[in-house]
Amino acid sequence: MVRDILAYPDSFLSKRAAPVSKIDEQLKKLIRDMFDTMYESEGIGLAATQVGVDKRVIVLDVSPSDESGVPIALVNPEIVGCDGPDIAANEGCLSVPGVTGEVVRPEAVLVQGMNENGEPVMLRAGGILGRAIQHEIDHLDGVLFIDRIQPSSATTE
Ligand code: NI
Repeated sequence: MVRDILAYPDSFLSKRAAPVSKIDEQLKKLIRDMFDTMYESEGIGLAATQVGVDKRVIVLDVSPSDESGVPIALVNPEIVGCDGPDIAANEGCLSVPGVTGEVVRPEAVLVQGMNENGEPVMLRAGGILGRAIQHEIDHLDGVLFIDRIQPSSATTE
């Protein structure tokens, strides 16, 4: 089921999301809905915060930009390490329609969390996936990419 995506400056987007304590049917439904919502909007990542749910859950599928991409759901994701140089690249966000701009982030991150079945996951993500994961975890901390943007690079449609 496609859910509504909150748009900036909705104050919910600035809220730090709460950790998930239990993986139950309601959480699995949320994850399915988040994938439906992300694909419907042709996004490559979505955080529960963006659909108004106060839980630390993100979904990603970077396959439109990187053919090795697969659908990934992460519960309580946490960056436990960074790797490689800081890189500036263009970002956009489904919650900030029509705006893009350059954000500097580490090239790769080590992320730990759980998958949709509650199993522990540790992954190293670089390139587009690494950037998308950092962008989505930012959402869980109430941070938008426009908070990190290089002002000279911002464009609006
Ligand atoms: Ni976003």
